[in-house]
This record gives sequence, C-alpha cells and structure tokens, in this order.
Amino acid sequence: MIENFEKRILCIGAGYVGGPTMAVIAQKCPQYKVTVVDINPDRIARWNSEKLPIYEPGLDDVVREARGRNLFFSTDIEEGIRESDIIFVSVNTPTKTFGAGAGMAADLQYWEKTARQIRECSGSPKIIVEKSTLPVKTAQAMKRILLASDKKNHFEVLSNPEFLAEGTAVQDLEKPDRVLIGSDETVSGLKARNDLVEVYANWVDRDRILTTNIWSSELSKLVSNAFLAQKISSINAISALCEKTDADVSEVARAVGMDDRLGPRFLNASVGFGGSCFKKDILNLVYLCRYYGLFEVADYWESVVRINDYQKNRFVFNMLACMFNTLATKKICLFGFAFKADTGDTRESPAIFISRKLVEEKAELIITDPEALENAKTDLQDIEGAVRYELDPYAAAEGSDAIAIMTEWKLYSDLDYERIYQSMVKPAFIFDGRNILDHRRLFDIGFNVYPIGKPPLTHFDDQPEICQE
Ligand code: UDX
Ligand code: ADP
Repeated sequence: MIENFEKRILCIGAGYVGGPTMAVIAQKCPQYKVTVVDINPDRIARWNSEKLPIYEPGLDDVVREARGRNLFFSTDIEEGIRESDIIFVSVNTPTKTFGAGAGMAADLQYWEKTARQIRECSGSPKIIVEKSTLPVKTAQAMKRILLASDKKNHFEVLSNPEFLAEGTAVQDLEKPDRVLIGSDETVSGLKARNDLVEVYANWVDRDRILTTNIWSSELSKLVSNAFLAQKISSINAISALCEKTDADVSEVARAVGMDDRLGPRFLNASVGFGGSCFKKDILNLVYLCRYYGLFEVADYWESVVRINDYQKNRFVFNMLACMFNTLATKKICLFGFAFKADTGDTRESPAIFISRKLVEEKAELIITDPEALENAKTDLQDIEGAVRYELDPYAAAEGSDAIAIMTEWKLYSDLDYERIYQSMVKPAFIFDGRNILDHRRLFDIGFNVYPIGKPPLTHFDDQPEICQE
C-alpha cells in the first residue's frame, strides 16, 4: 500500500499519556500517520478493541474517528522506529526501588533501553521527544546514548512535557493552557523545535506554544506538579487546624481562592492527593536538590509529601477514634478507589494506603468504584481475604458500620442515603474524605458525619479527642 502521509509520528509507550496524546494528534492532523507501540501485547490488543485499556471521558470517540485512518496501535516497535520522522517516548519512569536514590530518584532503565533500541533500528535522522516526566538532564543522557554509534544518523532530542490531567485528558489536549517545547539552542536543535511547533500549531494557538532551552522545559514539568501538589498540601494542613478551631475549610478556601493571585482551583481539602505524578515528581525534585547540595530547598519540597502522608494517616486515626477506638470485625465500605474521579487509575491512590491501614485494624472492607475495581483487586491482592468488591454502591453499603468517601465520583453525591442508612448497622458513620456530600442532610437522616476540615455532625453528646501519630 502506498501511504501518502506528510509526516510519520511514532509514540513508544501506550499508557495514560502516550495513548490519549497520540489519539488527539491523529484526530487533529489527518495528514500525519501516527503509530503507537508498546511491549505489552495485551495493552495494544485493547487499544485495537472496543474496550480501550484506560477509562477517559471522550477518548472512545477520538480513537474511533482516527483509528485505522491515520492512527495505528502495534507491537512492532522496530518497524515503527524505522519508518518514523518524530518519535515520542512515553514509557514508564517509576521511582527507583533499589540502589542509590531508592525511593526517590527515577528508575531510568526503561528509558535507556528505548534509547538504545531507537539507535539500533534507525536508518535515517530522527527527532526524539521526551514525553514522560524525567529528571532534569535526561535529554543530555539520551543524546549521548543515541550518538554513541558507528551509524552516522542525526538525532535531535526535545523535551515536550505532558500537562494533561487524567479524567480531563481529551479536553486538556484539545485546548491546552500551554504546550512547552525545550530544545538545544543550536541550528539543528532550533530546526527540530520548529518542526514540533508546526505539529501542535495544527490546532493550538501559537501564543500558547512556549519554547525554552531543554533544561528549563524538563524542570518546568517537575515544578508545575510540585506547585499544584503544594497547593493541596497547604489546604490539607489547614484542614487539620480547622478541625481544632471549628473553622470550616471550604469557607477558608473560598475566601483565600477569591484572591486572583492565588486562584480557587486545587484548594479542595481531601484525604490526600494521589496519581502517578505528584509524589514521584516531587521526590525527583527533592533528589535533584540534595544532589546539588540544596538541602533546605529539598526539605521544603519534601514536606509537601510528608503532609500528604500525614493527611492519610489522620483520616484513619480519625475513623478509629470516632468508632470507639476499635475497628476489629467492623464492616467499612469505601466509596471509590480511583485516585480521582473520572478515571480507573489507582496509582498512588490514597484508598490503597487507607485500605491497608483499616485491614491492619482488622476491619472488613467492601470496596465499590464504577471504573477502578479491576485495578483495586491487583493493588490489594496480598490482603484479598479481608476485602470484598461490589460494583453497586447500595449493595456495598448494606450491613456496614461506616462509609468512607475516597473518590469524588459524582454518582456518590446523587445516591439515596435514606435507603443506605436503613440498610446499615447503627450507629452509622460517614467519613467524607472529599467533602462532596450534603452533610446536614445526612445528619438529619441519622448518620454521624465526619467531613475533612469541618466540625463533625454527630448524635453523640461529646466528641472523642483524636490522637495523631
Ligand atoms: C497531574 C497534573 O494536574 C497534570 O498537569 C500532570 O500532567 C499530571 O499530574 P493528575 O495526577 O492526572 O494530573 O490529576 P490532578 O487533577 O492533578 O489530581 C491529582 C490528585 O490531587 C488527585 O488525587 C486529586 O483528587 C487530588 N486533588 C486535586 C485534591 O485532593 N484536591 C484538589 O483541590 C485537587
Ligand atoms: P504513563 O502514565 O506515563 O503513560 P503507563 O505506565 O501508563 O505510564 O505507560 C507506560 C507504557 O510504556 C506501558 O504500557 C509499558 O508497557 C510501556 N513500555 C515500557 N517500556 C517499554 C519499552 N521498552 N518499549 C515499549 N513500551 C514500553
């Protein structure tokens, strides 16, 4: 078949970032051939099926429009490399679990393997684009690996971090706040940068496409996520103070967020932030600061993660204290397991930590979530005897002593809580880890209600003094 495409774009890694990003590029640019490859054949099979491997609102339509026209999913990585002009790399970069920097630095083994494979299979010059979030200076290492060959292919490495958030990935990609492209400031670097600008300019206004040097681009991604997470840890820290002072964290957040300089978003106090990026990126930043001897700066950013751990711990201690200091044999129902609404992703979800802590207290768990049960079962397989999974929230809550809201799925605000209350053991408790419910109404139904950062509404005469670790 003779293919008449203007450019051939490849993406290595068909995950939460690579899949949606390439689907939108293919949809917006029918003149380009876009191929997504992965070492995992099951994942590729699902991208080629009616049931995509990730749940993301709006994504099915985008894939359906472009797949088979100019969007292809394949396991043939070598052929993909050979035929492409631009290669995006979005393989996973988890936190290292071994050796130097364990628990903090990024594990770059998948990245390096990919760089070597690109070098071996390439027969023509290529632009390589870092899409995965990576430590600063990875592009430089990548370039050294790519150029260490007898073949005299020219490779240009660009940094083009992805800012999409799960659950809103399609709209974030279609209408991004900004697209950031970092390159070497050499003649060939600037040309490659320009080639990538032209790809995005097919649908993004040029004044939203920022170009920088490569290190600024790599660092900006880490800093953006660190600032966002910092905002959440700040309001979560204040939620603890609100609980002591009878202030209401939503009222405080509203007053603070109306200041234009601060803005209202990312001020929802919660059981803690999750997701594959925030913790990993902050720890990466912390590692980088320590590496350069900037210990005060490292400690400052590390405290954002420490407050997040504190918030998750606090939530469990609160449950324990409010339920008469014992959870043994009590049935606790978790509403939601995904790290946020509108995704099935559970990576770093606070629900994982909280489930484990509750099972340590010998509670029996019933977990419900509209999209994340498959991942939840994998996450908790080592404690499977203590956990039951139910898709239907009414069936999940039946016979339980307490409900804990873990994820802000809209469906949990719309349930019939009168019916749920009738089916539960009394006294019935609700711990709203996302502050999404109508607390006064729940109290009137008969529940004892414990929000985050607000006075509890209970039918008891006195409140327990909560001890914290
Ligand atoms: C984040 C960044 O937003 C995105 O730009 C980057 O590309 C990847 O990392 P994501 O992790 O998908 O995206 O979701 P995000 O919406 O940022 O939420 C992260 C966590 O913070 C979730 O657990 C969410 O529930 C929590 N959160 C968010 C709060 O607890 N309170 C808030 O006010 C906002
Ligand atoms: P992200 O959220 O960053 O997209 P994911 O874990 O969802 O991360 O996706 C990363 C994908 O990269 C996985 O599907 C994984 O199988 C794939 N991958 C990892 N290493 C390689 C490799 N060497 N070649 C091709 N794909 C890879």
